[in-house]
Formats: sequence, C-alpha cells, structure tokens
Amino acid sequence: MLEPQQIRQGVEELGPWFYAHDFGNGLKTTPLIPPQVVGIHDTRLAMVKSEIQRFFGARARGISCLDIGCHEGFYSVAMARHGMQVTGMDAREENLRRARFVAAASGFDGVQYCQGRVETLAADQGRTFDLTLFLGVLYHVEDPMLCLRQVAAVTGELCLIETQVVDEVEGYTEWGAQEWKRPYKGILALVDESGEFHAGNRETGVTPMATCPSPKALLFMLRQAGFARAEILTPPPDAYEQHARGKRVVCAAYKV
Ligand SMILES: C[S@@+](CC[C@H](N)C(=O)[O-])C[C@H]1O[C@@H](n2cnc3c(N)ncnc32)[C@H](O)[C@@H]1O
Repeated sequence: MLEPQQIRQGVEELGPWFYAHDFGNGLKTTPLIPPQVVGIHDTRLAMVKSEIQRFFGARARGISCLDIGCHEGFYSVAMARHGMQVTGMDAREENLRRARFVAAASGFDGVQYCQGRVETLAADQGRTFDLTLFLGVLYHVEDPMLCLRQVAAVTGELCLIETQVVDEVEGYTEWGAQEWKRPYKGILALVDESGEFHAGNRETGVTPMATCPSPKALLFMLRQAGFARAEILTPPPDAYEQHARGKRVVCAAYKV
C-alpha cells in the first residue's frame, strides 16, 4: 500500500494516463481519451461483471483470472477487487510499469504482471485460468485465429472478449467450379494501424496491421479456436453508444 504522497508522485511521474484511475481521497488520474468516450469503460465493466456474476456466482471470489492485454491494469484491479487471483499480461513494458503502480496505489499488491504476447500465450503461461479477459485486443492483432487459439488454450471456464466489429457481409463464394458455392461465415476486415503504431501509440497491436471481425466471424472463430459455445451479450439500456449500436460487442465464450 502506498502513502498518499507516493501516489501523488506516481500519478505525476507516470502520466499521461489512458484510464481514469481513482485511488480515493481525491487522488486520481486524468484520462487521455475524450470525456464522451470515457463511458465505454463503465459499459464494459458492467457487462463483464454481470456475466461473471451470472456464470460463477459465489464462486467468483478466489478464482484465477488472466487479463490479456491488460494495459494499465484497469480491469485487473477491478477483478482483484472481487477477490480474484489476477495475473495481467501485456506486450508493452511501459503499460505494465503503470499497471504495477495502479495495483499498488489501489491496495492490490497481489496482482501479478508479466510481459508477453498473445501469440505465444499458452507456452508462456503453461497453465489455465478459470476466467480470461480479452478486452479491446482482438481487433488490434494481425492473426486473430492464432491469438484466439492461444486464448482458448489458457481459458479454464469462461473467456470474455470485447471487440470492435465490422458490419456483417452475407454471401457465397465460388469454391472450385461455378456451381459449387460456400457461404461466408462472417468476414475479417484488414485495417491499417501503421500511423498510430509508428507514432508510439500504446494501444495498438505489436505490428501495424490489424484485423477486425464481423459478429458472425467472431462467433465462428471462437468455436474453431476451441470454445464449446460463444454468445454475444446484450448491452445494458444505458450502454456506451458503440455498444448500443452493435459496433462493439462483449462476447462470452465457454469451454464447456
Ligand atoms: C486497446 S488496449 C486495451 C487494453 C485493455 N484490455 C482494455 O480493454 O481497456 C490494447 C492492449 O493490448 C496490448 N496488446 C496489443 N497487442 C498485443 C499482443 N499481441 N500481445 C499482448 N498484448 C498486446 C497493448 O499493448 C494494449 O495494452
């Protein structure tokens, strides 16, 4: 646990901050994201907590949780607050430095953080976690199937995925001859994040190229990756505008 003066100093020295972390007694960070977007975290947190409560119930206290692409540890600390044994991992040490401070300043020194890439998650962790969070990362990676297979491999029971989604495209492709056809199972859009990537943005993937799934593609890929079933959760009535319009989704993927 840090003293108020240490928290004040850390907030100052480690800024700018991506999230609005609140350490109590008026000690908090000012987020980089515009005020109209800050509410995105309220919606995600509400949806994540609600599904955890529905799925784990009283078991939620004490379960293990891996927060994949944890950034400043906003969701890691939120899960630790619920009594979970939390590990946060991220590709960027500069994010993890802030995450360690946030955990200490919030009184959750037990949260473990490690550097790593989703692409090698299963071998790096060498174990499963009851709950995995894969929030805001899928649409930043260039090989979503590889990543989802890795995420499935370390998920013991439930994985919560939050992602931007592209509009669905329904259709058929020829498959070897004009009369042979296969239906699309959703689509992946290729997205250029090179501008942000080369500018040193701390939220992008580890390469400049990103992919973004349509809702059907997300569900199809999750099944192919090793989840028994997956469903897109209904946002609350007061959801952030992108969730309300279905442009971002929170999806629950179950191992059994
Ligand atoms: C948009 S932020 C989302 C952070 C947080 N999970 C959230 O939902 O608010 C993406 C995070 O994932 C990390 N990241 C991106 N690609 C990664 C990869 N291939 N392996 C591990 N971490 C990655 C970034 O460093 C960043 O912290």
